[in-house]
Amino acid sequence: MIDTHSHLFEDEFSDDLDQCISRCKSQGVNKIVLVGFSESTNNKAMELSRKYNIFYPTAGMHPCEADDGWQKKVMILQDFLKANKVYAIGECGLDYHYGKDNIENQKKLFKAQIELAILYDLPLIVHMRDATMDTYEILSKYKGMLRGVMHCYSGSLEMANEFVKLGFYISLGGPVTFKNAKESKRVATNIPIDRLLVETDCPYLAPGIYRGKRNESSYVVYVASEIAKLREMSYEDVEKITSLNSEKLFGI
Ligand code: NI
Repeated sequence: MIDTHSHLFEDEFSDDLDQCISRCKSQGVNKIVLVGFSESTNNKAMELSRKYNIFYPTAGMHPCEADDGWQKKVMILQDFLKANKVYAIGECGLDYHYGKDNIENQKKLFKAQIELAILYDLPLIVHMRDATMDTYEILSKYKGMLRGVMHCYSGSLEMANEFVKLGFYISLGGPVTFKNAKESKRVATNIPIDRLLVETDCPYLAPGIYRGKRNESSYVVYVASEIAKLREMSYEDVEKITSLNSEKLFGI
């Protein structure tokens, strides 16, 4: 099993990271994509990946970073990519949840990272919140040049299929286990299985039984078992197929 989106470098894990990693191993979670989203977290993901071979680091600039200094941040990211081996660009994308006053900067920061993903031939990890149509419009301009994942996807099945057509995988996390998550369950049930990934986005978005508590990478097994139940497949098959998908996308 692979957690394709984890932030185990966060302070929430500073006291028990080793235990978190052993819980992963005992649950069969043997690879973790460690996702950076700012200058400091890109560095943290890289440092931890040197220490623990379970981790595969990425580097990106979250839409929260889209202030007037966004161009400098792109240069910092590019320097980082020259000096370090990462497995994806991101997370990056558009987030209109907290307001729309920096939309233009968000779009520019996002496009710059799409171009880095193409330049470095790396997959793109896309964060999309309350910004489906703008995200789709930007990504569709790069159709055929880009591969990646819509991380912690929470949109409709119809749009999920459109992102699949653009060359993207759909990654589901803890929210698919929530009782009222009808649309996520519809996505989990109907999306082509060869395009499905699983993730935690820990420490955020814990699955239903731990809702509101700290999430951790080993809980990705709850996401996989929910998907197995919804698709009437064995857990082992979901594990096998989503792991193969992740290995193919990230080259891990
Ligand atoms: Ni994240």
